Amino acid sequence: MSGNTSQLQVGGKTVDMAIKEGSVGPAVIDIAKLYAQTGMFTYDPGFTSTASCESQITYIDGDKGVLLYRGFPIEQLAEHGDFLETCYLLLEGELPTAAQKADFDYRITRHTMVHEQMARFFQGFRRDAHPMAVMVGSIGAMSAFYHDSTDISDPHQRMIASMRMIAKVPTLAAMAFKYTVGQPFVYPLNSLDYTSNFLRMCFAVPAEEYKVNPVLSRALDRIFILHADHEQNASTSTVRLAGSSGANPFACIAAGTACLWGPAHGGANEAALKMLEEIGSVDNIPKYIAKAKDKNDPFRLMGFGHRVYKNYDPRAKIMQKTTHEVLNELGIKDDPLLDVAVELERIALSDEYFIEKKLYPNIDFYSGITLKAMGFPTSMFTVLFAVARTVGWIAQWKEMIEDPSQKIGRPRQLYTGSPQRDYTPIGRR
Ligand code: SDX
Repeated sequence: MSGNTSQLQVGGKTVDMAIKEGSVGPAVIDIAKLYAQTGMFTYDPGFTSTASCESQITYIDGDKGVLLYRGFPIEQLAEHGDFLETCYLLLEGELPTAAQKADFDYRITRHTMVHEQMARFFQGFRRDAHPMAVMVGSIGAMSAFYHDSTDISDPHQRMIASMRMIAKVPTLAAMAFKYTVGQPFVYPLNSLDYTSNFLRMCFAVPAEEYKVNPVLSRALDRIFILHADHEQNASTSTVRLAGSSGANPFACIAAGTACLWGPAHGGANEAALKMLEEIGSVDNIPKYIAKAKDKNDPFRLMGFGHRVYKNYDPRAKIMQKTTHEVLNELGIKDDPLLDVAVELERIALSDEYFIEKKLYPNIDFYSGITLKAMGFPTSMFTVLFAVARTVGWIAQWKEMIEDPSQKIGRPRQLYTGSPQRDYTPIGRR
């Protein structure tokens, strides 16, 4: 490499490729013309060394355990702000003034109701459907209800669709939860803040008054902040790729929701809690650590490891603190799952295998314990992740749509299948 270009010698040719510097973090080698100049593709399954886009939204330093939303450290946003402030920041790029925040809160609050016919849409699901299946279906179905905000070429419609999703996804999530437990849907209440409204829609019943616990509401609001965005993770990349074809925003967010469901991604919080329950007691931990280290055993410690973080996930530290706050507020003195989690973390962080492979707890390791203590069933954990990540998906989708250089995403491949051959009639096979 020299100055701002790098050179590649391939096939007897020397190809010059520009190096582009970011504001912070790794520079990139622009390979856009590589195929045209060499007839060859790069090869990077899983995109471990590939920047898929330029973005100004979220920055992660995996070695230092740093996470910034529009330059602000996650620790400061979680400490001082609320989730809707983070939503405004991710969408607009700056922290809102008091007037901007009041206006944003007002607009979101007044979009929280869903079209009444959506309630009938839910009746088509089995009661024992996984709430994530219901979320993928109902978010996608928003395209069938909100036709006046599906034209992505119209900035006003893009803004309305964004407001509608940030406001209505929690309502749909609460409806998915109520539907699986056979309780009536609870309408939003405009007098409540975003997260208190969500808690009430999940846990209120017509038979009695529901009083929101402010400590739990603040804790869940902070959990939403932690989950709001995370650079070009699998589900965000799914939303960007879906959006690059010009698909409507509701369909793109439904695609991201489907991807988040996977246990290697957003489904890990549900899988991590099930793993802690399977381990059951501190005595069983060594057996599971051995399984996690055994190359022939597909078992992995759910809630551990990360493609980018090779240091402690900064969100996991805040998550752990929130877990203790919630358990204290609920008077849960000795939660056996927490005992297992704390001891598992202690053992894993001192084990050579985990140290060498730089495997640390990620955001999903403690979130399950907290959400279970709040009264959510494990099947709702990834739904809560989706509620929070909706704003991140939308902010990234919006950035892509507004990028004048954006084009449809269309990766190529290394083909190792059969070369061309002729059809043989069935009688001669
Ligand atoms: C999220 O991308 C994001 O930003 C995602 C996310 C977000 O906010 O959007 O942060 C949310 O998805 C967090 C991750 C939740 N997933 C889990 O907790 C599931 C358990 N973790 C893993 O499956 C795994 O760590 C991944 C999927 C998260 C990362 O997988 P990678 O990229 O394959 O991990 P790696 O390359 O860093 O692995 C290095 C080595 C490998 O062994 P070798 O092939 O080198 O011998 O560590 C091993 C892995 O097999 N390894 C584990 C492990 N995670 C990786 N071994 C045991 N237990 C684990 N959890």
